[in-house]
Amino acid sequence: DYLLTQDGIITKESLLYPFEERGLQFGDGVYEVIRIYQGTFDLLEEHIDRLYRSAEAIRLEVPFAKDALIASLHQLSEKNDVQTDAKLYLQITRGSAPREHSFPDVPSNFYAYMEPSERPVSPLQQGVRAVLADDIRWDLCYIKSLNLLPNILAKQTAKEKGAFEAILHKNGTVTEGSSSNVFIIKDKILFTHPAAENILHGCVRSRVLALALKAGLQVKETAFTTDQLLQADEVFITSTTSEIMPVIEIEGSLIGNGKPGSDTRTLQLAYEKESG
Ligand code: PDD
Repeated sequence: DYLLTQDGIITKESLLYPFEERGLQFGDGVYEVIRIYQGTFDLLEEHIDRLYRSAEAIRLEVPFAKDALIASLHQLSEKNDVQTDAKLYLQITRGSAPREHSFPDVPSNFYAYMEPSERPVSPLQQGVRAVLADDIRWDLCYIKSLNLLPNILAKQTAKEKGAFEAILHKNGTVTEGSSSNVFIIKDKILFTHPAAENILHGCVRSRVLALALKAGLQVKETAFTTDQLLQADEVFITSTTSEIMPVIEIEGSLIGNGKPGSDTRTLQLAYEKESG
């Protein structure tokens, strides 16, 4: 098993991090999770573009060009001989230096690795439960930052309540999930929070908006309330690992008839075709 670092491809065991590493001590870095279907990267350029946007937003310079990074990721995939469904995790941090809040003058640290990851086939068919949680995060959630404490706490609460996801809201306005974007369908209109600074601009979110238009749904990038969420005809969440995941129950109340909705199904089928 190999991983990619700024110094090239090395074995997983040979990655050694100093204790004074800014990702470890400050969460001072950004990351991406990229899907691999049958050995092929999905939405690769979209993820790499977002990585560079996140890095720029925290004034972190990525020490290689996009093309070079993409070429290296393909090399890593070949070296690992990835043929199945998998995912790639990558992160870049502000480097290793004696602990001080302000930026050090040292090179950044980068690594990327892959691991097998099956599609969540059964939940995709059956749908999942969700709970509501306060969105207590900062204003710049479009940055895919390593600082995930509020997300982790919300997800853990969901898990303890037997739910798959925590749907976050700020004063009753739904923003996104703890690790996903949230959509509702009401009277054949698809709603999702606009791609503002306070949510992550999901790669799957963008694809779904395009697919919805093709499928003849009206699309509104307009925020909705938790009441509208609970009253929706259909609800689903999207992410790289969860794809288009139907939500059939929120805080114990059923969405629609408590089964994945037909428009959600249509989008799932279109998604499967496109992501191959
Ligand atoms: N999370 N919103 C948040 C807060 C997320 O963490 C994610 C993805 C998304 C969906 O983005 P995308 O469609 O690009 O995967 C939305 C990844 C999968 C994770 O942290 O594991």
